[in-house]
Amino acid sequence: MAAAEQIKSLIKSFGEGDDTRFYATAMQIAALEAKKGHVALADELKKLIDNAKAGKGRGIGLVRNMPVNAAQKELSDLLELVHPDIKLKQMVLAPTIVKSLKRIVHEQHKLDLIREHNLQPRKKLLFTGPPGCGKTMSAKALASELRIPLFIIRLDGLISRYMGESISKLRLIFDAMHQFRAVYLFDEFDSIGTTRSNGNEVGEIKRILNTFLLQIEKDDSNSLVIAATNLPEHLDHALFRRFDDIIVYKLPELPEIKELYKSRLSELNLSKNYNIDKIAQESINLSYADISRICEELAKDVLVYGEDEVSEAVFLDNIRLRKKPF
Ligand SMILES: Nc1ncnc2c1ncn2[C@@H]1O[C@H](COP(=O)(O)OP(=O)(O)OP(=O)(O)O)[C@@H](O)[C@H]1O
Ligand SMILES: [Mg+2]
Repeated sequence: MAAAEQIKSLIKSFGEGDDTRFYATAMQIAALEAKKGHVALADELKKLIDNAKAGKGRGIGLVRNMPVNAAQKELSDLLELVHPDIKLKQMVLAPTIVKSLKRIVHEQHKLDLIREHNLQPRKKLLFTGPPGCGKTMSAKALASELRIPLFIIRLDGLISRYMGESISKLRLIFDAMHQFRAVYLFDEFDSIGTTRSNGNEVGEIKRILNTFLLQIEKDDSNSLVIAATNLPEHLDHALFRRFDDIIVYKLPELPEIKELYKSRLSELNLSKNYNIDKIAQESINLSYADISRICEELAKDVLVYGEDEVSEAVFLDNIRLRKKPF
Protein backbone atom coordinates (compact mmCIF):
# COMPACT_ATOMS: atom_id res chain seq x y z
CA MET A 1 0.00 0.00 0.00
CA ALA A 2 1.17 3.47 -0.78
CA ALA A 3 1.89 5.68 2.21
CA ALA A 4 -1.04 7.67 3.55
CA GLU A 5 0.78 10.94 2.83
CA GLN A 6 1.12 10.01 -0.83
CA ILE A 7 -2.55 9.18 -1.16
CA LYS A 8 -3.45 12.49 0.47
CA SER A 9 -1.09 14.35 -1.86
CA LEU A 10 -2.57 12.52 -4.85
CA ILE A 11 -6.11 13.53 -3.98
CA LYS A 12 -5.12 17.09 -3.10
CA SER A 13 -3.22 17.65 -6.32
CA PHE A 14 -6.06 16.16 -8.36
CA GLY A 15 -8.54 18.49 -6.65
CA GLU A 16 -6.32 21.49 -7.33
CA GLY A 17 -5.68 20.49 -10.93
CA ASP A 18 -1.95 20.41 -10.15
CA ASP A 19 -0.80 17.91 -12.81
CA THR A 20 2.90 18.19 -11.98
CA ARG A 21 2.42 17.18 -8.36
CA PHE A 22 -0.15 14.53 -9.27
CA TYR A 23 2.23 12.74 -11.67
CA ALA A 24 5.23 13.20 -9.39
CA THR A 25 3.34 11.55 -6.52
CA ALA A 26 2.06 8.76 -8.74
CA MET A 27 5.66 8.10 -9.83
CA GLN A 28 6.77 8.01 -6.21
CA ILE A 29 4.15 5.36 -5.50
CA ALA A 30 5.36 3.32 -8.49
CA ALA A 31 8.97 3.64 -7.29
CA LEU A 32 7.97 2.55 -3.79
CA GLU A 33 6.21 -0.53 -5.13
CA ALA A 34 9.26 -1.42 -7.27
CA LYS A 35 11.47 -1.12 -4.20
CA LYS A 36 9.21 -3.53 -2.35
CA GLY A 37 9.69 -6.00 -5.16
CA HIS A 38 6.21 -5.54 -6.68
CA VAL A 39 7.75 -5.18 -10.13
CA ALA A 40 4.65 -6.00 -12.18
CA LEU A 41 2.50 -3.52 -10.25
CA ALA A 42 5.21 -0.84 -10.53
CA ASP A 43 5.39 -1.38 -14.31
CA GLU A 44 1.65 -1.22 -14.63
CA LEU A 45 1.55 2.02 -12.65
CA LYS A 46 4.26 3.57 -14.84
CA LYS A 47 2.36 2.59 -17.98
CA LEU A 48 -0.84 4.09 -16.58
CA ILE A 49 0.98 7.32 -15.79
CA ASP A 50 2.52 7.51 -19.29
CA ASN A 51 -0.82 6.86 -20.94
CA ALA A 52 -2.57 9.41 -18.77
CA LYS A 53 0.10 12.01 -19.64
CA ALA A 54 -0.12 11.27 -23.35
CA GLY A 55 -3.92 11.37 -23.34
CA LYS A 56 -3.96 14.63 -21.48
CA GLY A 57 -3.49 16.37 -24.80
CA ARG A 58 -4.24 20.02 -24.61
CA GLY A 59 -5.95 20.28 -21.28
CA ILE A 60 -8.72 17.76 -21.73
CA GLY A 61 -8.20 17.06 -18.05
CA LEU A 62 -9.11 20.54 -16.98
CA VAL A 63 -12.15 20.79 -19.18
CA ARG A 64 -13.29 17.42 -17.93
CA ASN A 65 -12.87 18.55 -14.34
CA MET A 66 -14.82 21.75 -14.76
CA PRO A 67 -18.28 21.49 -13.28
CA VAL A 68 -20.83 21.72 -16.06
CA ASN A 69 -23.21 24.24 -14.65
CA ALA A 70 -24.33 27.80 -15.19
CA ALA A 71 -21.32 29.21 -13.33
CA GLN A 72 -18.93 27.32 -15.59
CA LYS A 73 -20.71 28.54 -18.70
CA GLU A 74 -20.51 32.09 -17.38
CA LEU A 75 -16.85 31.62 -16.58
CA SER A 76 -15.97 30.39 -20.04
CA ASP A 77 -17.40 33.64 -21.44
CA LEU A 78 -15.05 35.63 -19.25
CA LEU A 79 -11.86 33.65 -19.63
CA GLU A 80 -9.86 32.73 -22.68
CA LEU A 81 -8.25 29.38 -22.04
CA VAL A 82 -4.76 28.85 -23.48
CA HIS A 83 -2.56 25.76 -23.24
CA PRO A 84 0.83 27.13 -24.13
CA ASP A 85 3.90 25.04 -24.80
CA ILE A 86 6.49 27.81 -24.86
CA LYS A 87 9.44 27.44 -22.54
CA LEU A 88 11.28 30.30 -20.86
CA LYS A 89 14.47 29.42 -22.67
CA GLN A 90 12.75 30.07 -26.01
CA MET A 91 12.41 33.70 -25.01
CA VAL A 92 15.04 36.36 -25.38
CA LEU A 93 15.01 38.53 -22.29
CA ALA A 94 17.25 40.82 -20.29
CA PRO A 95 19.07 38.78 -17.58
CA THR A 96 17.24 40.51 -14.70
CA ILE A 97 13.87 39.47 -16.16
CA VAL A 98 15.03 35.89 -16.68
CA LYS A 99 16.14 35.82 -13.05
CA SER A 100 12.78 37.10 -11.80
CA LEU A 101 10.78 34.65 -13.90
CA LYS A 102 12.94 31.68 -12.88
CA ARG A 103 12.57 32.64 -9.24
CA ILE A 104 8.78 32.57 -9.60
CA VAL A 105 8.95 29.09 -11.18
CA HIS A 106 11.27 27.81 -8.44
CA GLU A 107 9.05 29.13 -5.67
CA GLN A 108 5.98 27.61 -7.32
CA HIS A 109 7.75 24.27 -7.44
CA LYS A 110 8.33 24.49 -3.69
CA LEU A 111 4.83 25.68 -2.77
CA ASP A 112 4.29 23.15 -0.01
CA LEU A 113 7.66 23.75 1.61
CA ILE A 114 7.20 27.53 1.59
CA ARG A 115 3.67 27.28 3.00
CA GLU A 116 4.77 24.81 5.69
CA HIS A 117 7.03 27.57 6.99
CA ASN A 118 4.16 30.08 7.02
CA LEU A 119 5.63 32.00 4.12
CA GLN A 120 3.92 33.02 0.91
CA PRO A 121 5.23 32.07 -2.54
CA ARG A 122 5.47 34.80 -5.18
CA LYS A 123 2.21 34.72 -7.07
CA LYS A 124 0.90 38.26 -7.59
CA LEU A 125 2.78 39.79 -10.48
CA LEU A 126 2.62 43.01 -12.42
CA PHE A 127 4.08 43.06 -15.94
CA THR A 128 4.56 46.46 -17.55
CA GLY A 129 6.15 47.52 -20.81
CA PRO A 130 5.60 48.42 -24.47
CA PRO A 131 3.58 46.20 -26.82
CA GLY A 132 5.30 43.17 -28.29
CA CYS A 133 7.97 42.82 -25.60
CA GLY A 134 6.95 39.54 -24.04
CA LYS A 135 4.37 40.16 -21.33
CA THR A 136 1.79 37.72 -22.68
CA MET A 137 4.53 35.39 -23.88
CA SER A 138 6.03 35.32 -20.35
CA ALA A 139 2.64 34.48 -18.87
CA LYS A 140 2.43 31.63 -21.39
CA ALA A 141 5.95 30.46 -20.57
CA LEU A 142 5.24 30.50 -16.81
CA ALA A 143 2.09 28.45 -17.32
CA SER A 144 3.93 26.05 -19.55
CA GLU A 145 6.92 25.67 -17.17
CA LEU A 146 4.47 24.94 -14.34
CA ARG A 147 2.39 22.69 -16.61
CA ILE A 148 -0.81 24.49 -15.79
CA PRO A 149 -3.21 26.29 -18.12
CA LEU A 150 -3.34 30.01 -18.75
CA PHE A 151 -6.55 32.01 -18.55
CA ILE A 152 -6.58 35.43 -20.15
CA ILE A 153 -9.05 38.02 -18.92
CA ARG A 154 -9.29 41.24 -20.92
CA LEU A 155 -10.33 43.76 -18.33
CA ASP A 156 -11.41 46.48 -20.73
CA GLY A 157 -13.70 44.01 -22.50
CA LEU A 158 -15.08 42.73 -19.21
CA ILE A 159 -15.94 46.25 -18.09
CA SER A 160 -17.56 47.34 -21.31
CA ARG A 161 -19.49 44.09 -21.73
CA TYR A 162 -20.69 43.79 -18.18
CA MET A 163 -21.11 47.37 -17.05
CA GLY A 164 -22.84 47.22 -13.67
CA GLU A 165 -22.12 43.52 -13.31
CA SER A 166 -18.34 43.46 -13.60
CA ILE A 167 -17.74 43.13 -9.87
CA SER A 168 -19.73 39.91 -9.62
CA LYS A 169 -17.90 38.62 -12.72
CA LEU A 170 -14.56 39.43 -11.16
CA ARG A 171 -15.53 37.53 -8.00
CA LEU A 172 -16.45 34.55 -10.13
CA ILE A 173 -12.96 34.58 -11.63
CA PHE A 174 -11.29 34.76 -8.23
CA ASP A 175 -13.45 31.84 -7.04
CA ALA A 176 -12.23 29.86 -10.05
CA MET A 177 -8.64 30.39 -8.92
CA HIS A 178 -9.29 28.06 -6.01
CA GLN A 179 -10.93 25.43 -8.16
CA PHE A 180 -8.54 25.44 -11.11
CA ARG A 181 -4.88 26.04 -10.50
CA ALA A 182 -3.74 28.14 -13.43
CA VAL A 183 -2.06 31.38 -14.42
CA TYR A 184 -4.71 34.11 -14.58
CA LEU A 185 -3.55 36.98 -16.77
CA PHE A 186 -5.53 40.20 -16.35
CA ASP A 187 -4.65 42.05 -19.53
CA GLU A 188 -5.14 45.80 -20.05
CA PHE A 189 -4.85 46.27 -16.30
CA ASP A 190 -4.61 50.04 -16.75
CA SER A 191 -8.31 50.02 -17.59
CA ILE A 192 -9.02 49.49 -13.89
CA GLY A 193 -5.76 50.65 -12.29
CA THR A 194 -5.90 54.05 -13.90
CA THR A 195 -5.90 57.37 -12.12
CA ARG A 196 -7.27 58.99 -15.25
CA SER A 197 -10.72 57.62 -15.93
CA ASN A 198 -13.47 60.14 -16.24
CA GLY A 199 -17.16 60.44 -16.93
CA ASN A 200 -19.76 58.17 -15.41
CA GLU A 201 -17.50 55.09 -15.41
CA VAL A 202 -15.38 56.48 -12.56
CA GLY A 203 -17.42 55.11 -9.67
CA GLU A 204 -17.77 51.66 -11.21
CA ILE A 205 -14.09 51.40 -12.14
CA LYS A 206 -12.99 52.42 -8.65
CA ARG A 207 -15.24 49.72 -7.20
CA ILE A 208 -13.85 47.14 -9.63
CA LEU A 209 -10.29 48.06 -8.67
CA ASN A 210 -11.14 47.85 -4.96
CA THR A 211 -12.69 44.42 -5.50
CA PHE A 212 -9.63 43.30 -7.43
CA LEU A 213 -7.30 44.49 -4.66
CA LEU A 214 -9.40 42.93 -1.94
CA GLN A 215 -9.49 39.64 -3.81
CA ILE A 216 -5.75 39.45 -4.48
CA GLU A 217 -5.11 40.39 -0.86
CA LYS A 218 -7.13 37.48 0.48
CA ASP A 219 -6.37 35.00 -2.30
CA ASP A 220 -4.68 31.94 -0.84
CA SER A 221 -5.09 29.67 -3.86
CA ASN A 222 -2.20 28.03 -5.68
CA SER A 223 -2.93 29.99 -8.84
CA LEU A 224 -0.82 32.85 -10.16
CA VAL A 225 -2.30 36.27 -10.81
CA ILE A 226 -0.63 38.46 -13.41
CA ALA A 227 -1.74 41.99 -14.20
CA ALA A 228 -0.31 43.35 -17.45
CA THR A 229 -0.26 46.83 -18.88
CA ASN A 230 1.62 48.85 -21.44
CA LEU A 231 0.57 52.07 -19.78
CA PRO A 232 2.26 51.90 -16.36
CA GLU A 233 2.31 55.69 -16.17
CA HIS A 234 -1.49 55.56 -15.98
CA LEU A 235 -1.41 53.33 -12.91
CA ASP A 236 -2.02 54.60 -9.45
CA HIS A 237 1.35 54.23 -7.71
CA ALA A 238 -0.26 52.95 -4.53
CA LEU A 239 -1.00 49.78 -6.50
CA PHE A 240 2.60 48.75 -6.94
CA ARG A 241 3.05 47.53 -3.36
CA ARG A 242 0.14 45.11 -3.79
CA PHE A 243 2.24 42.88 -6.05
CA ASP A 244 4.98 40.43 -5.07
CA ASP A 245 7.00 41.25 -8.17
CA ILE A 246 6.90 44.01 -10.75
CA ILE A 247 8.59 43.06 -13.98
CA VAL A 248 9.42 45.90 -16.32
CA TYR A 249 9.71 44.83 -19.97
CA LYS A 250 11.60 47.06 -22.37
CA LEU A 251 12.30 47.27 -26.07
CA PRO A 252 15.23 44.98 -26.88
CA GLU A 253 18.73 46.48 -26.91
CA LEU A 254 21.48 45.43 -29.29
CA PRO A 255 22.47 42.17 -27.52
CA GLU A 256 18.85 41.01 -27.29
CA ILE A 257 18.11 42.09 -30.87
CA LYS A 258 21.04 40.02 -32.15
CA GLU A 259 20.09 37.03 -30.05
CA LEU A 260 16.49 37.17 -31.27
CA TYR A 261 17.57 37.42 -34.93
CA LYS A 262 19.93 34.48 -34.51
CA SER A 263 17.34 32.30 -32.87
CA ARG A 264 14.43 33.21 -35.19
CA LEU A 265 16.54 32.90 -38.37
CA SER A 266 17.77 29.49 -37.33
CA GLU A 267 14.24 28.34 -36.32
CA LEU A 268 13.05 29.40 -39.77
CA ASN A 269 16.00 27.64 -41.47
CA LEU A 270 17.32 30.88 -42.91
CA SER A 271 20.96 29.97 -43.10
CA LYS A 272 22.23 32.74 -45.40
CA ASN A 273 25.12 34.75 -43.93
CA TYR A 274 23.50 38.09 -43.23
CA ASN A 275 25.49 40.76 -41.40
CA ILE A 276 23.62 40.53 -38.11
CA ASP A 277 25.52 43.46 -36.55
CA LYS A 278 24.35 45.80 -39.28
CA ILE A 279 20.83 44.38 -39.28
CA ALA A 280 20.58 44.66 -35.49
CA GLN A 281 21.79 48.26 -35.55
CA GLU A 282 19.06 49.08 -38.05
CA SER A 283 16.47 47.42 -35.78
CA ILE A 284 16.90 49.66 -32.73
CA ASN A 285 13.50 50.84 -31.41
CA LEU A 286 11.65 47.85 -32.82
CA SER A 287 9.90 45.42 -30.47
CA TYR A 288 10.55 41.69 -30.13
CA ALA A 289 7.27 41.14 -31.96
CA ASP A 290 8.39 43.39 -34.84
CA ILE A 291 11.70 41.54 -35.19
CA SER A 292 9.97 38.21 -35.09
CA ARG A 293 7.59 39.37 -37.83
CA ILE A 294 10.48 40.64 -39.97
CA CYS A 295 12.08 37.18 -39.82
CA GLU A 296 8.81 35.52 -40.79
CA GLU A 297 8.37 37.93 -43.71
CA LEU A 298 11.88 37.07 -44.84
CA ALA A 299 11.17 33.35 -44.63
CA LYS A 300 8.12 33.89 -46.85
CA ASP A 301 10.17 35.94 -49.34
CA VAL A 302 12.66 33.08 -49.54
CA LEU A 303 9.84 30.63 -50.26
CA VAL A 304 8.21 32.83 -52.87
CA TYR A 305 11.24 34.32 -54.66
CA GLY A 306 14.09 31.93 -53.79
CA GLU A 307 17.06 32.54 -51.52
CA ASP A 308 19.18 34.33 -54.14
CA GLU A 309 16.63 37.13 -54.45
CA VAL A 310 16.49 37.77 -50.71
CA SER A 311 19.63 39.82 -50.23
CA GLU A 312 20.72 41.82 -47.23
CA ALA A 313 19.28 44.89 -48.96
CA VAL A 314 15.84 43.25 -48.99
CA PHE A 315 16.27 42.40 -45.30
CA LEU A 316 17.14 46.02 -44.47
CA ASP A 317 14.22 47.30 -46.55
CA ASN A 318 11.83 45.07 -44.60
CA ILE A 319 13.17 46.55 -41.38
CA ARG A 320 12.81 50.13 -42.59
CA LEU A 321 9.30 49.41 -43.79
CA ARG A 322 8.29 48.07 -40.39
CA LYS A 323 9.80 51.12 -38.71
CA LYS A 324 8.10 53.61 -41.00
CA PRO A 325 5.23 52.04 -42.88
CA PHE A 326 4.11 55.41 -44.31
N1 LIG B 1 11.13 38.40 -25.21
C1 LIG B 1 10.75 37.80 -26.33
N2 LIG B 1 11.48 36.80 -26.87
C2 LIG B 1 11.10 36.21 -28.02
N3 LIG B 1 9.99 36.56 -28.71
C3 LIG B 1 9.23 37.54 -28.23
C4 LIG B 1 9.56 38.20 -27.01
N4 LIG B 1 8.63 39.13 -26.76
C5 LIG B 1 7.74 39.06 -27.76
N5 LIG B 1 8.09 38.12 -28.65
C6 LIG B 1 7.35 37.79 -29.88
O1 LIG B 1 6.33 38.77 -30.04
C7 LIG B 1 5.02 38.20 -29.94
C8 LIG B 1 4.12 39.12 -29.15
O2 LIG B 1 4.61 39.25 -27.83
P1 LIG B 1 3.65 39.40 -26.57
O3 LIG B 1 2.27 38.98 -26.95
O4 LIG B 1 4.26 38.71 -25.41
O5 LIG B 1 3.67 40.96 -26.36
P2 LIG B 1 3.06 41.80 -25.15
O6 LIG B 1 4.21 42.39 -24.39
O7 LIG B 1 2.09 41.00 -24.40
O8 LIG B 1 2.34 42.98 -25.96
P3 LIG B 1 0.96 43.75 -25.69
O9 LIG B 1 1.28 44.86 -24.72
O10 LIG B 1 0.57 44.28 -27.03
O11 LIG B 1 -0.02 42.76 -25.15
C9 LIG B 1 5.26 36.85 -29.27
O12 LIG B 1 4.26 35.92 -29.62
C10 LIG B 1 6.63 36.47 -29.79
O13 LIG B 1 6.55 35.95 -31.10
MG1 LIG C 1 0.00 41.01 -24.29
